[in-house]
Amino acid sequence: MNLNQVCKRILPAPVVTWIRHSRLRLWELSLSQANRFAKYYARPTSRGKVQIESQLMFNVHQVEKGLSHSNIRLGFGQRALRELSGHMQRLQQVDSSYASNPLYREALTVLGQYEQRHRESGFDLKPMHSLFPESIRNEISEIGSNQVIAQERTQSQQHTYRPEFFELVNNRHAVREFSQQQVTISELNEVVGVAVKSPSVCNRQSTRVHIILGNDKIQQALRIQGGLNGYPTPPALVLITADLRAFLGQNERNQGYVDGGLFAMTFLYGLEAKGLAACPLHTMFPASDSAKTRKLLNIPENEILIMFIAVGHFLDSVPVCRSKRYSADHITSVIDMSSESVS
Ligand SMILES: Cc1cc2nc3c(=O)[nH]c(=O)nc-3n(C[C@H](O)[C@H](O)[C@H](O)COP(=O)(O)O)c2cc1C
Repeated sequence: MNLNQVCKRILPAPVVTWIRHSRLRLWELSLSQANRFAKYYARPTSRGKVQIESQLMFNVHQVEKGLSHSNIRLGFGQRALRELSGHMQRLQQVDSSYASNPLYREALTVLGQYEQRHRESGFDLKPMHSLFPESIRNEISEIGSNQVIAQERTQSQQHTYRPEFFELVNNRHAVREFSQQQVTISELNEVVGVAVKSPSVCNRQSTRVHIILGNDKIQQALRIQGGLNGYPTPPALVLITADLRAFLGQNERNQGYVDGGLFAMTFLYGLEAKGLAACPLHTMFPASDSAKTRKLLNIPENEILIMFIAVGHFLDSVPVCRSKRYSADHITSVIDMSSESVS
């Protein structure tokens, strides 16, 4: 019997409820969350490869954003370029195969584009070059300018009405019973390949996906999770997590839940589009259940749990909840100051 169960047994119910909802408990939970974040997020002094890659990605994205303006501001991004140079040099120190590191190569590609766009406009590149050691300048000219990084969205892409998407959204339901047909890794990987297209803060892509196959393991995980009790074991279970090493500052402490949620939604729609049934399952556990889940599934301490998704093939017919939604009016307020600014 754990402490929780002992307290439940010996204390009067109102006291147990008070403890469960006390601020003290909230602070305790927040503190442990904060400690985990503090241990792993990418600080300017971090020496971990993934943390350096996250910082690199941040600056790569700043530069690619600068290049995606219809009219670029020549000479832009000196600070981003300086930081990028520093991160590239730090990555060289911690990654012995940095030359083939996809992020390092992306940095070179973006820098090649930066050079090319400025050269075409006759802009003096000396200030930019002064920020990089000669070795990196050489790598930029080797890899760089022939790769296109800023793509154009054409008018036809922008104006296409796609009713199939509305249909897919309206027909998706959380499905909790599945056929016995196995779900293959390749089926799931195809959908993961689509879900990676989800937006994430500065394209830092913190989301990680753990695919759990095998009846026993799934059962054990769901016993801890508790939200699918009474339903047959699904053929596959996916755990979505976020790697805290992707985040650069303390304000981003909850970003993993945002980016992970967006990823999970694309993943759910991807499954639906592929003809697979799914049910999202929360992982907002008490600390003890989080710890059990981490241990059972070998989840690294630098990842936070976002949600499980049970996956399987559809039965011929399956009951689903109606799960009535609020109307758009009910949840929407309009903040329209345009008439005020006119008068
Ligand atoms: C993050 C998250 C956690 C959820 N956890 C559970 C769960 O533990 N058990 C369950 O049966 N359903 C769970 N659901 C499914 C919701 O109950 C369901 O999505 C909601 O009622 C809307 O219904 P629909 O998905 O069929 O449109 C979860 C959904 C989300 C998004």
